[in-house]
Amino acid sequence: MAEKRRSDHIAASRERFGPRAAGYRESPLHAAGADLDLLLAWVAPQLGERALDVATGGGHVAVALARAGAGVTAVDVTPEMLAEVAALAEAEGVPIATVEAEAGELPFADGSFDIVTCRIAAHHFPDAARFFAEVARVLAPGGRLGFQDQTLPPQGTSAVLVDAFERLRDPSHNQAYSEAGWLTLIERAGLSVERAELVDKAHAFAEWTGRQDCAPATVAELRRLMAEAPPGMAEWLAPECDAQGALVAFRNRHLVVLARA
Ligand SMILES: C[S@@+](CC[C@H](N)C(=O)[O-])C[C@H]1O[C@@H](n2cnc3c(N)ncnc32)[C@H](O)[C@@H]1O
Repeated sequence: MAEKRRSDHIAASRERFGPRAAGYRESPLHAAGADLDLLLAWVAPQLGERALDVATGGGHVAVALARAGAGVTAVDVTPEMLAEVAALAEAEGVPIATVEAEAGELPFADGSFDIVTCRIAAHHFPDAARFFAEVARVLAPGGRLGFQDQTLPPQGTSAVLVDAFERLRDPSHNQAYSEAGWLTLIERAGLSVERAELVDKAHAFAEWTGRQDCAPATVAELRRLMAEAPPGMAEWLAPECDAQGALVAFRNRHLVVLARA
């Protein structure tokens, strides 16, 4: 990956998330859900373990790890997000160290964590393979990765269209993968996948576009793309419309993974 393309992606994420940081801390879909419960149950943080939450966003995983007694470092490329995490940690009365860093260049020594988590973020990374290689490096032998992100359908055409739908709403979306794609990247980094499960996440369309301040033209185009979705895309996103036929909700499908170094 050319460094220029990588730095463009990092800048796009900062630009996108900086002004919207509070919205992600307050987002009920990020603060809770069956996906978060499953991720935490699989990672099973223990008192005194060293945990790293990458692309921490509003810090909901980081806070849960800290509540369980782990010593938590939260990393994000967007300084405004780290300020939100620090505020949330203070409000919750748990200690969390915050570090500004990019997922593909973690400023930590080899083997320095028992747990690494990364939830609903890797589709933004300029180079997901480089991120998983960094996870394998910073995890101690036997350490756990708890990973979650949105997935694409296995079929080529539908996969391209679903990814494009997500990218139109948020231009800092780089690339998601199918379940098989994510698992391949994780295994190729030398991590062993122990558990993997798809979890649906329901989205109210207005809230989903509102969290990214989508312009009316973008909202209209998203509606058009969904209305014209071929069967594979429609089956994957399961759109729900009101009596007038306007899109009100859909789901995306998240992969939750436990892998071991
Ligand atoms: C949707 S939010 C993360 C949600 C959060 N992990 C949670 O569970 O609620 C995506 C985050 O990824 C961060 N991000 C995007 N690209 C990144 C990168 N290359 N390295 C580190 N963080 C990145 C953004 O700044 C943003 O805070």
